[in-house]
Amino acid sequence: MATIKKTALIIGAGTGGYPCAIRLGQLGVDAMLVEKAEPGGVCLNWGCIPSKALISATKLYHKAQHAEHMGVSFQSPSVDMPKMQGWKAGIIKKLTGGVKTLVKGAGTEYVTATAEILGPGRVKLVYPKDEKGVAKPDDIVECEHLVIATGSQPIVIPGFEIDQDKVRDSTGALELDFVPEHMVCIGGGIIGLELGQTFQRLGTKLTVLEGMDRVLGPCDADLAKLVARKIKQDGGEVVTKAMAKGYETREGKLWVRAEVGGETKEYPADVVLVAVGRRPVTKGFGLERLGVTIDERGFVSVDARQQTNVAKVYAVGDVCGQPMLAHKASHEGEVVAEVIAGKKTVNDARSIPNVVFTEPEIASAGMGEDEARAAGHEIEIGKFPFSISGRAMAIDETDGFVKVIIDKQDTRVLGIHVVGPEASDLISEGSLAIEMGAFAEDIALTIHPHPTLGEAVMEAAKHAIGEAIHVGNRRR
Ligand code: NAI
Repeated sequence: MATIKKTALIIGAGTGGYPCAIRLGQLGVDAMLVEKAEPGGVCLNWGCIPSKALISATKLYHKAQHAEHMGVSFQSPSVDMPKMQGWKAGIIKKLTGGVKTLVKGAGTEYVTATAEILGPGRVKLVYPKDEKGVAKPDDIVECEHLVIATGSQPIVIPGFEIDQDKVRDSTGALELDFVPEHMVCIGGGIIGLELGQTFQRLGTKLTVLEGMDRVLGPCDADLAKLVARKIKQDGGEVVTKAMAKGYETREGKLWVRAEVGGETKEYPADVVLVAVGRRPVTKGFGLERLGVTIDERGFVSVDARQQTNVAKVYAVGDVCGQPMLAHKASHEGEVVAEVIAGKKTVNDARSIPNVVFTEPEIASAGMGEDEARAAGHEIEIGKFPFSISGRAMAIDETDGFVKVIIDKQDTRVLGIHVVGPEASDLISEGSLAIEMGAFAEDIALTIHPHPTLGEAVMEAAKHAIGEAIHVGNRRR
């Protein structure tokens, strides 16, 4: 057992930990990044990237079957799920390999080991066994600064033990190498709908069971409605106020039991996807030995510099609070690196955009209507539908709209919400507008290229101030 001295140690190489490690290296801080599994965390290995790969492949499959009206027809396309999974695995391998290279390139040490906090500034590293079943002796790291970037894990519910066969969490669902005939998604949140629609595009009969009165609770209701409608149009079922209770196996199917408005109902499934949220990972690695404060929802409490109540102990990403988003984690990781390096950096982001890769896509930056009113704003709303956008027609994706929420008095942009084609890319303009404190005129008077989907953002901003060209304005 050796003792290694480091200025900073980061536990967890997900999208919070690895950018922190890279930035620390860039800033000349002697740091080590320790990870027990693959670099990249949930995002690269079992979340954002693999799901987006499957989403894009299944969209292509679906589009190829629905292009006759554009004068393009294909022979009936086929799906080779093992091959699709292999292609997806190749993307993950490239990206996770890239993470290690970037960390090392920045001058930070990367170590594969399980970290256990022994006490203030002391962390034990337990190395994995090699193919002969032998592991290197444990090491002790003595560090001045410690960054907790341990992420989150899926919540499990009684009655649905995850076996990654019939009953899967998102990790298991992303590994499916066949197309189930019936899928029941428990939870109509981001994961349930993104993955549910992925398999629906391949022909799976989808049932979404959502406990609340609508799907995608945190998203603007206007936008979420379109996704629920699309699932139904594509032959699926969305059951709200439905609490899943358990299942039994009959006739080769799982029959999922749910309480729906006081009645017990059953839904058939070949695969059940449990996606009822995630919880922070704060246990099992000695964090309690430091006396770090955990809030009532189980997250590590941090201040605007990502510092916990214990000096020189920081937390970033899913482990320290909502929203559980990769880009929020990365930003926090970079903030911590600068704090450790002695800079006066704080996390004062005005906007953490939210993107949901459903069909149609949803993306938001800033406040929703209710939130803006609750914050005391008198608001004006500008809207532009993709149904009258030339570009949307040309790519044959006309569902959805852009909604811009501004303060009625000074026209400052409070929120931008997009549901429709490429919403995930369009929202960056909205995020920048909010971060820069833009007024509606800043977007409206910026020349947007034609013909693009981005023009819809400009038109919605113009509409908010009564100056839209391609859609009727309200009298102001
Ligand atoms: P979620 O919090 O988005 O949705 C879970 C849903 O399950 C809620 O609507 C809840 O009401 C419902 N629910 C809970 N218990 C239930 C029960 N017994 N029966 C029926 N419904 C029940 O959680 P999800 O989808 O698991 O995603 C977890 C996290 O992962 C999210 O916080 C999200 O931020 C992140 N994520 C982000 C993505 C993105 O940015 N595109 C993609 C995937 C995940």
